[in-house]
Amino acid sequence: MKTLIDKKIDEKKQGNVLTIENQIVGTKKLYIESYGCQMNFSDSEIVASILNKENYSTTRDISEADLVFVNTCSIREKAEQTVRKRLEVYNSIKKSINPKMVVGVLGCMAERLKEKFLEEEKLVDIVVGPDAYRDLPNLIKEVEDGRKAVNVFLSKEETYADIKPVRMSGNGVTAFVSITRGCDNMCTFCVVPYTRGRERSRNPKSIVQECKDLFLDGYREVTLLGQNVDSYLWYGGGPKKDFKNATAEQKKNAINFSNLLEMVAKVNNKLRIRFSTSNPQDMTDDVIEIMAKYDNICNYIHLPVQSGSSRILKLMNRGYNRDEYIALVDRIKNKIPDCAISMDMITGFCTENDDDHNDTISLMKYVKYDYGYMFKYSERPNTAAEKKFEDDVPEEIKQKRLVEVINLQQKQSLENNKKRLNKTYEVLIEGLSKRSKNHYYGRTTHNCVVVFEKSSHKVGDYVNVIINDCTAGTLKGKII
Ligand code: SAH
Ligand code: F3S
Repeated sequence: MKTLIDKKIDEKKQGNVLTIENQIVGTKKLYIESYGCQMNFSDSEIVASILNKENYSTTRDISEADLVFVNTCSIREKAEQTVRKRLEVYNSIKKSINPKMVVGVLGCMAERLKEKFLEEEKLVDIVVGPDAYRDLPNLIKEVEDGRKAVNVFLSKEETYADIKPVRMSGNGVTAFVSITRGCDNMCTFCVVPYTRGRERSRNPKSIVQECKDLFLDGYREVTLLGQNVDSYLWYGGGPKKDFKNATAEQKKNAINFSNLLEMVAKVNNKLRIRFSTSNPQDMTDDVIEIMAKYDNICNYIHLPVQSGSSRILKLMNRGYNRDEYIALVDRIKNKIPDCAISMDMITGFCTENDDDHNDTISLMKYVKYDYGYMFKYSERPNTAAEKKFEDDVPEEIKQKRLVEVINLQQKQSLENNKKRLNKTYEVLIEGLSKRSKNHYYGRTTHNCVVVFEKSSHKVGDYVNVIINDCTAGTLKGKII
């Protein structure tokens, strides 16, 4: 999820600007820009929904905005630097063109820095953490009354289950549906448990209803979203860690991730289901079985590994070792032979040596991932790794290892795609190709992007496409 977005940010030096279709037209204008993971993009839709009721409609033009929000990411230092640079740009716009604009920081950076943000960035008027968006109308009033406003309260219950997100003006075919918030895994390198709080699951009824509504609105694919979807557990609300205190009745009726997956798969067999992110330590065999049972659950798993070295995995507190990870991949491939797998990988974690790195390379050669999101380790303040270990791998070595891992992944992605030549796949049409108005693009069940010549079919239709050419990132084909 991350690199793709990071790359886009690098290209544009600007985050994704959200505009809402079919919104109630308000007299005030909201400009909202999002960085980081899919969850942030999804949260921005919730924010826009809350503020639409307060008479705000979205705009892409910052110079006319009454309210400017940036939804931020803290995962790596670079992500934070990008946001700081954007704030400088907002500052100059405020001074030169739009003195009335109120500026707010949302999301993980807001949660991490809290009031400090107001001291560090004089321009900022509002700081709101990921669980406090319902309070936005009050916070905005405070600012209108001449005060600065902060709410970084992390909730044990909040899932925004009842708020119908206003869909980003996307393709109208694929949508993200959030199912859990927060994370309890405490990987030592990761800031998420501190910025997004305790893990909690959303009521399955509201999830299924949202998927049904999306299908009726013409959507044909949903991605169930959470930091660790396999850990989903609904027992009536509240944090996952308190499940042990639930009543016998609650425990008996609890819904886990495989149950939820089946409920969503049954919404309609023409609705494709994906999910992200799977954590190897929480992924159970019943999830693999449900995937194999339902054709509309896509044959694709994003299964972050982070390292191929058991020693490093232990330091990362990932909860599995190399052999266990490989055994899981084997079980997946055994039950779903053509299942595509992608990963996240970190190079240069504390104490990583050449042997550890070689373990990463050999693991990649074993799994032959279809896709990868690869990062250099970036030390984050207050994480366990920052407190306990030294960030001792020199920058050049981190970089060299990253390049090696990326090059290998490129090569393997191309090899995997070549194996798909002359085969026919069902493709869900998502829209017009960015490069040509005469071509559509869509994806196969494996999440491979396919480009093919336009036909009488519409966006949102399923078509069978025979593959006749490919690059590492794209398949090309012809409708049959
Ligand atoms: N479970 C989450 C993971 C969030 S972070 C999800 O839904 O994707 C996404 C990826 O960023 C992680 O899998 C990891 O590979 C990378 N990452 C997290 N913290 C990092 C750090 N401190 N330095 C470098 N990469 C990091
Ligand atoms: Fe971060 Fe590990 Fe959770 S990577 S989001 S602490 S599963």
